[in-house]
Amino acid sequence: MASSLFSRQLSLSLQKNLWLGAAGKSSSSNTGCRYVSKAAPKTQVEYDYDGPSMKTSVPGPRSKELTKQLGEIQNVAAVNFFCNYEESRGNYLVDVDGNRMLDIYSQISSIPIGYNHPALLKLMANPNNLSAFVNRPALGILPPENFPDKLTESLLSVAPSGMTRVQTMACGSCSNENAYKAMFIWYRNKERGHNTPSDEDLSTCMINKSPGCPDLSILSFMGGFHGRTIGALATTHSKAIHKLDVPSFDWPIAPFPRLQYPLEEFAKENAQEEARCLEEVEDLIIKWRQKGKPVAGIVIEPIQAEGGDNHATPNFFKSLRNIARKHGCAFHVDEVQTGGGSTGKFWAHEHWGMEDPADIVSFSKKLLTGGFYYKAELQAEKGYRIFNTWMGDPSKNLFLVEVLNVIRRERLLEEVTRSGKTLLNGLYELQTQYPGILSRARGQGTFCAIDVCDDETRDKILLKTRDKGVLLGGCGDRSIRFRPTLLFKEYHAHIFLNIFNDVLAQYK
Ligand SMILES: Cc1ncc(COP(=O)(O)O)c(C=O)c1O
Repeated sequence: MASSLFSRQLSLSLQKNLWLGAAGKSSSSNTGCRYVSKAAPKTQVEYDYDGPSMKTSVPGPRSKELTKQLGEIQNVAAVNFFCNYEESRGNYLVDVDGNRMLDIYSQISSIPIGYNHPALLKLMANPNNLSAFVNRPALGILPPENFPDKLTESLLSVAPSGMTRVQTMACGSCSNENAYKAMFIWYRNKERGHNTPSDEDLSTCMINKSPGCPDLSILSFMGGFHGRTIGALATTHSKAIHKLDVPSFDWPIAPFPRLQYPLEEFAKENAQEEARCLEEVEDLIIKWRQKGKPVAGIVIEPIQAEGGDNHATPNFFKSLRNIARKHGCAFHVDEVQTGGGSTGKFWAHEHWGMEDPADIVSFSKKLLTGGFYYKAELQAEKGYRIFNTWMGDPSKNLFLVEVLNVIRRERLLEEVTRSGKTLLNGLYELQTQYPGILSRARGQGTFCAIDVCDDETRDKILLKTRDKGVLLGGCGDRSIRFRPTLLFKEYHAHIFLNIFNDVLAQYK
């Protein structure tokens, strides 16, 4: 009785926020744009607003007040502004000062189908789901009855080629951290020729000494980002701020190809650059084996995101996969940022066109839960070897089932390809128009980026664009990254391009 009352109230209040909010706030749009971008036919996203609406500069007074208040409790140096998530809808994030911004950063690329999607609100309001939200289990020991079915309907229904097993985790770093452990355990069992540790293994591991804690390594790439926990951080090489003062491992770091864009125009130069990097990878694997720290696994992002949206060709990844095989290293593809559809395929590595692309694929962000897919041989033989209290959150799998339904029903990957083309073509046009400011436009689907002449100008452009109602993110030294939700349509691209053009015009 109490639960049905609660769910009715929840459902009513969510509907009120959703639909009354729509009626009251949908009419105004950004002003002052010079319309250079063609108007695209507006395909209706019912619950979306129809444009940005700005009342103050961002952060506004209420955000500043709250930042001060929170600053008394914790570090707020990274806080941009405070949000009103009840009023946010579709592609638009509303802040506490009533500013409504077209969100092309989507909570660091982690919102799959926009804010307050009706399909997800409906799921929340369903009384049958309440216990999943209220009772968070220790999944590794006490999973709920529907857990295997929900994993099958959600994560396994989009499993990368060759993968039949998946382990959920809480976040991206923790997914990678545990994936590395799985690779080390697999490698040691391979070295031993069996799964049974010796007495010496068991005693030395307790005091952090070899052979129980073996001198194995993970090869990563300069510019890569795999998270901020100690092991993941050892493979992160994007910005010093992430790593400073934290002890790390002596693990090999290979150069990631520094390609020229558009890729089709520089095929020869890029192939040479990729060959150079691949050669270095093999050299490092051999060198680290000679040092007594063999490479158990190679970890790589399909597009280096945090490190500056650096792309490589399918040929590079195919060759790297072969090098991993040749030297007996596991091949781990980190799809935490690229996974979930924004490149136009559900997994970015699908663009490589390989039957057997990886041994491990990690994910988080748009998949709502963290975790990693893995080949059967990478399963540790005992419980508790890959383990923590929560091991993910089964309520996220319920949401993911709905997200995948929406992606399929609304053919969102096709939409992403279409709107991504419009976005990238617009960026090409703008970089021709502003050659002193913009360069190296690049992208796959809506997973796009462009470079700005220097970091100071980039940061100013980001703030000015935000004050005009579009939220973007930076990455690398001087890139702007575009990470919209999967609901981003061509007309959203045009709204952005017009506002962006307006900001850039001030620099001419
Ligand atoms: C490729 C990649 N791997 C790992 C991570 C770490 O994920 P989290 O921030 O959830 O720990 C990120 C986060 O941005 C990422 O982009």
